[in-house]
Amino acid sequence: MTTQRTSVHGQWSSGWVFILAATGSAIGLGNIWRFPYITAENGGGAFVLVYLVCIAFVGIPIMMAEIMLGRRGRQSPVNTMRTLAQEAGRSSHWGLVGILGVLAGFLILTFYSVVAGWAMAYIPRAASGMFVRADVAQTEAVFAALLSDPERLLAWHTLFIFITALVIAGGVRSGLERAVSLLMPSMFVLLLILVGYALSAPGFGEAMVYMFKPDFSQIDSSVVLVALGHAFFTLSLGMGSIMAYGAYLPQSSSIPGTTLYIAAVDTCVALLAGVAIFPVMFTHGVQPAEGGPGLIFKILPIAFGQMSYGRELSVIFFVLLSLAAWTSALSLLEPVTAWLVELRGYSRARAAGYAAAVAWLLGLGSLLSLNVWSGNKLFGMTFFELMEYLAVNIFLPVGGLLIVLFAAWRLAPSDSRAELKVGRHVYLVWQASARFIAPAGVLVILLQGLFGS
Ligand code: TRP
Repeated sequence: MTTQRTSVHGQWSSGWVFILAATGSAIGLGNIWRFPYITAENGGGAFVLVYLVCIAFVGIPIMMAEIMLGRRGRQSPVNTMRTLAQEAGRSSHWGLVGILGVLAGFLILTFYSVVAGWAMAYIPRAASGMFVRADVAQTEAVFAALLSDPERLLAWHTLFIFITALVIAGGVRSGLERAVSLLMPSMFVLLLILVGYALSAPGFGEAMVYMFKPDFSQIDSSVVLVALGHAFFTLSLGMGSIMAYGAYLPQSSSIPGTTLYIAAVDTCVALLAGVAIFPVMFTHGVQPAEGGPGLIFKILPIAFGQMSYGRELSVIFFVLLSLAAWTSALSLLEPVTAWLVELRGYSRARAAGYAAAVAWLLGLGSLLSLNVWSGNKLFGMTFFELMEYLAVNIFLPVGGLLIVLFAAWRLAPSDSRAELKVGRHVYLVWQASARFIAPAGVLVILLQGLFGS
């Protein structure tokens, strides 16, 4: 059928650029900020193991489904879902999955941009040398001072949203491609340097046991749900980011190969971040449960503060972290922008501007909940925590579930196989995972985590 649709938003110049962009989307605060802190909050090794299982059995088949749908539909996630559903003779209500994704993207941006602001705020702090030989008390004080200052947070949050919107406004080719090409290798090298330092820290052994020796008494169904949600979050799945990027993927690229590559690199970066952070945490007597969302901002400056060239390296690190957050945020803003262009005929600049304005406004809620509103809680959570919980543990798994159900049960197998371009055996493995294993896993974990004991 209509395999040769082209996207009105442009196309990546090669499959390699797609890989760069999708990896840029996947690798971000999720790997370096979120993975270590939720691992610490959820008991270590067993959590890590469940997370890895979720990546393999849920994340990978769903990522293949998202890229495949995106490339077949070649539009924003909303219209891709709607068009493909109509072509397959199914209800156009499937377009609602795309709308759910747009909503999820906004929810994520509300806190993502604020945390990206922390990373940017640490660039001048690191450059000033304030972390040289700093101890835990000092780094904690720096972090606390930042959070208690809404004006500073606002400046960084605003700057971050602005530069995100700027690239998105530029369009697929001129904007995204340029933004993604150099980042990952440098981040990798910096993490390796940090890991090198961690290797010599006295807490290294304890940290490895903590991270890699599963203690199943530490987990229950709500912890498993957090691991599942994070698997979606870190791979950018469940809201259409990867689907939107798939829409610009050349017809000749291999979807399974690309997926495996992205999942592997993303997982390595998260594990490296953990190996860099936990030894320092144990060495300085910080208990895992004490870290909270500020974990890396309290721990990594201590490590840098004791390394030679630590000041320079820490500046580079926070620059790279900000850039990694930026390339991820691009993919949060892209689906809604592409949708507004299709829906309203806006220019990309206008669509990106409107979407960014809404994200900025919502972000204020997260920002203020760190200080002025910190006492206001709903379900025991601040606005920031509530957005993070809703988006990551509910919206993404539900979105991912619907996407994979659609791809595996509603699209004709001949179509999905033609799009995936794989041999019979690989196709059958994907089909079994996408029809049964991934949906059943998500459903059980979601229901247990939300309603179980
Ligand atoms: N994966 C990114 C990170 O780890 C965040 C992200 C970008 C994302 N796009 C997404 C998360 C879409 C969920 C859905 O930082």
